[in-house]
Amino acid sequence: MYNIDPKLDKPIYLQLYEEIKKDIQTNLKAGEKLSSIRKMTTDYKISKNTVQNAYNQLYAEGYIDSIPQSGYFVSENLYDNFKKENEIELEDKTTDDIVKYDFYPACLSADTFPKKTWLRLYNKVLKSSLNLGIYHNNQGDIELREQIVKYLKSSRSVNCTIENIVLTSGFADSMFIISKILKDETKRIAFETPSYRVAKKVFEQHNFEIEEIYVKQNGIDIKQLKKSKSKLLYLTPSHQYFFGVTTPIANRIEIINWAKENNSYIIEDDYDSELSYNNRPIPAMQGINNNEQVIYTGTFSKSLSPSIRVAYLVLPVNLLKEYKKEFDYPFSTIPIDIQKTLATFIKEGFWERHLRKVRTQNKKKHDIMKSFLYSNLKNDIEILREGSGLNILIKPKIDIDLKILIKEAQKKYVKLYLRNLDEKTEVLSMGFGNFKESKLKVALEQFYIIWEEVKNKQD
Ligand SMILES: Cc1ncc(COP(=O)(O)O)c(C=O)c1O
Repeated sequence: MYNIDPKLDKPIYLQLYEEIKKDIQTNLKAGEKLSSIRKMTTDYKISKNTVQNAYNQLYAEGYIDSIPQSGYFVSENLYDNFKKENEIELEDKTTDDIVKYDFYPACLSADTFPKKTWLRLYNKVLKSSLNLGIYHNNQGDIELREQIVKYLKSSRSVNCTIENIVLTSGFADSMFIISKILKDETKRIAFETPSYRVAKKVFEQHNFEIEEIYVKQNGIDIKQLKKSKSKLLYLTPSHQYFFGVTTPIANRIEIINWAKENNSYIIEDDYDSELSYNNRPIPAMQGINNNEQVIYTGTFSKSLSPSIRVAYLVLPVNLLKEYKKEFDYPFSTIPIDIQKTLATFIKEGFWERHLRKVRTQNKKKHDIMKSFLYSNLKNDIEILREGSGLNILIKPKIDIDLKILIKEAQKKYVKLYLRNLDEKTEVLSMGFGNFKESKLKVALEQFYIIWEEVKNKQD
């Protein structure tokens, strides 16, 4: 039972809204049906309007979904936001769910990782004079930083030295560091929208106010940006996280000029620039700006492995002092054996070779998925993102309930992933990276069978 007290100063609809919200955050499951308005009215002796107002508020905030003729349900997307105790998170890749075909959008197939070479280099590192009895450099191993500098300069035109590089255990840690070093400067951040959920979440956790700047055909809306007074802006200019669009040079310059005039910093998330299938990636924004306004962030997750947890920041010179002051303790350092092995891997030329292999492998898988979707679902879907990274984004052109599709797929051990384009529009992010080339077609055929079944049932 919910706690509703008519004697309180607070409107009853607000009390009910807060009680249900708490219930959703701590107890109810995604997809679970809420009591009907009529039942609520009789259970709590309150008016229909009061219940309706509470439900409207929950709906507006995305906590619940309304299905005509069926009622109100806890939103499926909440899995992204609230992990309930004793419950497996929908996208948790650490669980051992029985999944035959997993279309997770950010995975590499197990055979991508160069295990043999890695093992050989790892042994070499351990047999070397590496001292495991000490704490190593907080900012990251110098040898690895040197290798990253060389790589970023030559392939991404990033302007940096080993002093600017901070190695981190992943993107979230990189964002954590930024939120800390800029904490006295600002508590507001502008985000390209739609945006990478993790980036937003870290800044929300650190009580930043979020401003949304919408993505158009050429990246973020420059007109909207120019009105913004945020001191920090997050974006993925090489391949926009959601749509894959590349921000053209003219817009990049406008964005940098905005940052200069407004005294703001730009976080350039260059997460998957290595995986461009139709053209060569264009140089990073950071290089245009001569390392002043742009905080560059990269990762080894997309091309080498998301399991080894190696990412990095390139900090502008004027933020280094603050970084050193804030992080004068061992924060989230990557194990030194991993750092040294990776440094050797890059130094001995294996990284460049590996990149070529990963690009070729994933381009093939990308093309298989794209042509399968075009030839089988041409009239049913629109492709919103393709040509880079590890996933293709599709939006139905027909009336099909993607949540039902996901549930039906789950019953057949196929895992699909829903993303929100905006408050109303749902799309599917179809990862191909996770599959061996030989298995991808079979997985897609399974997906197609489920799609047809759900589509025909809904007709
Ligand atoms: C937009 C974006 N940025 C960064 C990352 C990298 O995250 P991490 O380095 O924590 O694996 C990802 C991974 O999916 C991503 O999609």
